[in-house]
Amino acid sequence: MSIFDEIKVFSGNSHPELARDICQYLKIPLGKSEVFKFSNDETFVRIQENVREKDVFLVQPISAPVNDNLMELFIMIDAARRASAGRITVVIPYYAYGRTDKKDQPRVAITARLIADFITTAGADRVLTMNLHAGQIQGFFNIPLDELTSIPLLASQYKDKNMDDLVVVATDVGAAKRAHDLADLLGTPMAIIEKQRYGNEDVVEAVNLIGDVKDKCALIVDDEIGTGGTVVAASKILTKFGVNKIYCCAVHPVLSGNASNLLAESNISEIIVTDTLPVPANKMIPNLKVVSVSDMLGEAISRIHAGLSVGAMFGH
Ligand code: R5P
Repeated sequence: MSIFDEIKVFSGNSHPELARDICQYLKIPLGKSEVFKFSNDETFVRIQENVREKDVFLVQPISAPVNDNLMELFIMIDAARRASAGRITVVIPYYAYGRTDKKDQPRVAITARLIADFITTAGADRVLTMNLHAGQIQGFFNIPLDELTSIPLLASQYKDKNMDDLVVVATDVGAAKRAHDLADLLGTPMAIIEKQRYGNEDVVEAVNLIGDVKDKCALIVDDEIGTGGTVVAASKILTKFGVNKIYCCAVHPVLSGNASNLLAESNISEIIVTDTLPVPANKMIPNLKVVSVSDMLGEAISRIHAGLSVGAMFGH
């Protein structure tokens, strides 16, 4: 039994398809709302049904246009709060600005923290998210946050493929924990690439590789694919070190700029991503496969509503 009234799910313009799929899992209709921009570029939100004392979930991964979608989210929270929602949970499967999580250069902002403050100030009571760029971003929020992981879902895509000599490859030292989790689930060894990023431009180079990959099948894993530079650089060094086939999986398909072309032209046989972010038709390429996290998010929402453990979904 929930202490809050029924579940109501609303979507901004970031990923309505995911919100609809979540509602399908929950067997409820998507809540009615209008979220649009006036001709003067200001965003307008109106929740078109009663949410008084309801358990409200606002689905809005921070996809491009990032700042517009963030603004929509803040205004949606404010609208729900002023409509007397019983509790407001923001469902942000992809948390943008996650890489701006520390002062790693003089006089820079910690934008991931700033956004957390905006979300809380707007009136959110809880956060439901997935595979944050860095776990410590959880602590940027002073409200409860549930972080789901899609590593088991990605692992399940490879379990039946009977890939001999598979080795899971982390794209950099920071990604080693994620790669370790995947390797553990698949029962394979792992390797780590040493990555160099140059300046603030999206220029990356894989400079070294630790681990045995020769004549093996490599599975590159990353949290997100942005420009595609990281995974393509990884595929190049893996080829240099003698792998015979390359696969790749990542949670968040940001796919900015020329990423799709870069991936299509790469020697990566198949790239599996999730639908935490929408992949528009013009970014779909033959070697890209999208698996859905909607059931996982739906289950987490249902558990949050009922006061059940979310960790139990992952055996905790
Ligand atoms: C970096 O620390 C991340 O884990 C990803 O490797 C990075 O965001 C990927 O970006 P891009 O595709 O632009 O190289």
